[in-house]
Order: sequence, then C-alpha cells, then structure tokens
Amino acid sequence: MAIRPILIIPEPQLRQISAPVLKIDRDVEKLVADMLETMYDAPGIGLAAVQVGVKKRVITIDVARDDAPKDPIALINPEIIAVSEETSIYNEGCLSIPEYYEEVERPARVTVRYQDLKGAMQQTEAEGLLATCIQHEIDHLNGILFIDHLSRLKRDRVIKKFTKAARREAEA
Ligand code: NI
Repeated sequence: MAIRPILIIPEPQLRQISAPVLKIDRDVEKLVADMLETMYDAPGIGLAAVQVGVKKRVITIDVARDDAPKDPIALINPEIIAVSEETSIYNEGCLSIPEYYEEVERPARVTVRYQDLKGAMQQTEAEGLLATCIQHEIDHLNGILFIDHLSRLKRDRVIKKFTKAARREAEA
C-alpha cells in the first residue's frame, strides 16, 4: 500500500468525468488499498479515485467515529438509484479543498447500487452522514465538487483563493 498525493483545486482533473471500471483486477485492488491508506492518513471520511489522479469510478468511505473500529467500504461504479424527498444539512469539507467547510443540503437518504471488490452487485440504503458522503464522492466521479452546491458568490471566492495559492506556489 502507498499514500498517493491528493489533487487540490483548481487542478483541472478534478473537473473531469471518471470512466466505469470494466474489470476488477489487481490494479483496482491496489488502487482501493492505496485510496484507503491515503484517506486515513489525510485524515478524511471519503475519497474518490479522481482525487488521486485516477479517473475511474471508484470511491472509498469510512464514516465510523474515531472511537469505533474502522469500517472501510469501497464502491465500484456506484450509482444512486433513489433519493428521499427529505433533505439534511451537513457541514461538508473535501480533501481537495483543504480547510474549507460549508453547509450543504442534500437528500437525507439514498439508495446506491455498486460493485464490491469481488465484482458482486450490491445495493444499500444509506442515511445520515453516510448518505451525504456517498453523494459527495459520487459527485467527484462526475467532476462535481461540493462548492458547486453553494451560492455562486461563495464558490467563486473559494476558487479564487485556491487559484491564487496555486499560482504563488508555482512561482515560489
Ligand atoms: Ni471531496
């Protein structure tokens, strides 16, 4: 396993659409292992493959509390097939937008269909933080960031701040 560097906005790859995984082979197993290690190291509760520069439809999640045993899940080719009308609001963050948090409203419950690492189809209903996390990570696979759910004013302000920071770093 290895910790992979996490891409930060305004990195253009974060805006690209990830491709379906056609075959779950050793490369995908290795990717998932690395993503989990990278996610725990960050630390974060969710990661999409595109955030480490791999444009494949793979996400890893662990929303277990710090005092609880680890509960990692890997979702391959995940798809939301139903959402609740009821919504919930969470203060979201993203490893690709470090140290920025904002409240986002999303459906409170989702049904997600995906393949596990053995290639078996799974379907699960999620609520609470897990439901929000699944939606946030699947957004990444479609080039969407949580700041896209904010007002244009807020979003532009964040992008500007990170664009400036990236420019400073490039010049340094
Ligand atoms: Ni994110």
